[in-house]
Amino acid sequence: MMDDIVSLAKRRGFIFQSSEIYGGINGFWDFGPLGVELRNNVKRFWWRAMVDLRDDVVGVDTSIIAHPETWRASGHVNSFSDPMIDCKTCKGRFRADHLETSQCLQKPSKNPQQCGGELTEARAFNLMFHTFVGANQDSASEAFLRPETCQSIFTQFKNVATTSRQKVPFGIGQIGKSFRNEITPRNFIFRSREFEQMEMEFFIKPDPVEQQKWYEYWVAFRYQWYQDLGIRKEKLRLREHAADELAHYAKGCTDVEYEFPFGWSELEGIANRSNYDLTQHMTFSKKDLSYFDQANNEKYVPAVIETSAGCDRTLLTVLCDAYHVDEVEGEARTVLRIAPEIAPFKVAILPLSKKLNEKAESLAKDLRKRVKLDFDDAGSIGKRYRRQDEVGTPFCVTYDFESETDGKVTVRERDTTKQERIAVTEIINYLVDHKAVL
Ligand code: GAP
Repeated sequence: MMDDIVSLAKRRGFIFQSSEIYGGINGFWDFGPLGVELRNNVKRFWWRAMVDLRDDVVGVDTSIIAHPETWRASGHVNSFSDPMIDCKTCKGRFRADHLETSQCLQKPSKNPQQCGGELTEARAFNLMFHTFVGANQDSASEAFLRPETCQSIFTQFKNVATTSRQKVPFGIGQIGKSFRNEITPRNFIFRSREFEQMEMEFFIKPDPVEQQKWYEYWVAFRYQWYQDLGIRKEKLRLREHAADELAHYAKGCTDVEYEFPFGWSELEGIANRSNYDLTQHMTFSKKDLSYFDQANNEKYVPAVIETSAGCDRTLLTVLCDAYHVDEVEGEARTVLRIAPEIAPFKVAILPLSKKLNEKAESLAKDLRKRVKLDFDDAGSIGKRYRRQDEVGTPFCVTYDFESETDGKVTVRERDTTKQERIAVTEIINYLVDHKAVL
């Protein structure tokens, strides 16, 4: 099934291998015309739930390259690494903890433990990408591409708290690119070297009861978000980390997981980070990042509950969950059952005959002001329905000869294939009622 999804994603312009004409570059992906629409819609869906609809979360957009001290304070320079093993025989490089599911480069049917190759001892490999800022290329000008978006939320905590006049408890959200030099990128866009995160840091009083309360609140909130996105509940689960799995800063962490064709895997982590991050940045910057609670006349360094989701993994989840092959009028059809809120095209306008193009185009021009749509006049109506089903367009509007006289069109619903006749003037209301337009 994964192969079918990868093939559809390429064929219909969702996702292409980066630099394909040069043979590709492992771990990097390009998003095509439909991919970028779906991606933007997923990000908007997150921003709406996490920032727009709340009065206790504000947003930021911080730089990808930050002062390198940021990454010493966060612990990434010293400890953001994976154990790596080299094979002296096939020259492959593998994550020591992924050997069983890796492939030998010379004997792809075997894993590096079975192929008889000579393996080195595991050694720590730091995952941060390095670069240089300015004209000099020495250690003083070395900088890093951020491996997570949250650190600048911590370093800007005071500026944001002061300027937004938010009071603890409150959160700061951000969507942006992150980079990790993964040893073995894999499973399509699931693990890549350049990806996007949707993170929110919620600042609270450093009190165990308060921390537990908000941790449980955000685990439940984020779990529900994936269901609101239209993902089937039975394919989602929560997994609490065991004590020995926790990151050095975390007091508790729960992952939201999805059952991909390659197994249950992490979509997002919700973590109780205590006040580790702000304390570290205070130590390294020697600046005071504590908060003064005027109402209670108390000063403290806030603790943080983090919700950290991957945009690319959410996108892959949407594609995997939506992908179905069913039967319509005795024929197999491929359909993406994407929720109308995030579908790349909300509606397709299909003139029944080329003679009706002018009227149908004028209708499309009008609707385009409110919704992302496709206009398709090529081939039989059945073929056009199939094309739209395959990219997840929830509604097709057919403009026919009667439309000219009765001012009505036929709307066909993607999942049920049911058709109904509605007035042209009612199309937008219909799309609003069916959540295709907010
Ligand atoms: N700030 C905490 C943090 O970054 P993480 O578990 O390392 O935590 C959070 O990453 C999320 O970012 C993951 O759940 C995943 O969705 C996404 N992510 C991490 N590494 C990724 C990669 N190499 N490719 C795609 N997404 C990734």
